[in-house]
Amino acid sequence: MDLYEAIRARHSVRKYTGEKLSAQAASALHEEARACSLRHGVDARLIEDGAAAFDGFWAHYGKFSGVPSYFLLAGKPAPDLFERAGRAGARLVLAAQMLGLNTCFAALSYKKSAVRPLPEQGEKTICVIAVGVGAEQGKPHRSKPLHKVCDAENMPDWFRRGMECALLAPTAMNQQKFYFSRSGSTVTARAGIGFYTKLDLGIVKHFFECGAGAENFTWG
Ligand SMILES: Cc1cc2nc3c(=O)[nH]c(=O)nc-3n(C[C@H](O)[C@H](O)[C@H](O)COP(=O)(O)O)c2cc1C
Repeated sequence: MDLYEAIRARHSVRKYTGEKLSAQAASALHEEARACSLRHGVDARLIEDGAAAFDGFWAHYGKFSGVPSYFLLAGKPAPDLFERAGRAGARLVLAAQMLGLNTCFAALSYKKSAVRPLPEQGEKTICVIAVGVGAEQGKPHRSKPLHKVCDAENMPDWFRRGMECALLAPTAMNQQKFYFSRSGSTVTARAGIGFYTKLDLGIVKHFFECGAGAENFTWG
């Protein structure tokens, strides 16, 4: 599966078979987590033996089952930490999808006390991302119309492709509280007001870049 197929095929999955990650998949995802940590200045790790984090009241309330593993996203407090973590998380869910695995971000529905290993001293846990072999593939989410999320007048093709991918990105509670504007080849994206909208912003900016092509624009 290539990147664009992964963007279209990815939906949040909360029911997993319980099967462990294969050694090959785990090794590729540890490597991707290391690359994301370096690139985005966050602490991104794959926790292979992660079932306990999805075995409590909140996880069951969130309808998670059979989750074998998760990514932990953490980092030192900074004004742009959530946006950087969102970018890292976006890369990780797409890398997992390309390996034929399923994912679901969880900022609330997991057992915080069971998250191991704990983040380093001075770091804040931002969220986890369930990863494993899905018992299902999830389903497409409802999306806002383009004119509600961007300056939709006279869009060049690259901008339209970017927005199509941004609308396929996961956002907390599917809120899609973001807005993209364009002046020539300069694109500005801002987060609306709400829970985890800065984390969402990093995710949708990464999905936008995948669709638009980083060579076609610069961030304003
Ligand atoms: C930052 C963030 C936090 C999320 N937290 C949770 C959560 O705590 N529990 C849950 O079941 N889903 C959670 N989700 C998944 C969203 O509900 C899901 O991405 C959204 O409904 C869109 O659906 P899709 O991912 O299938 O496209 C979260 C997603 C994001 C991006």
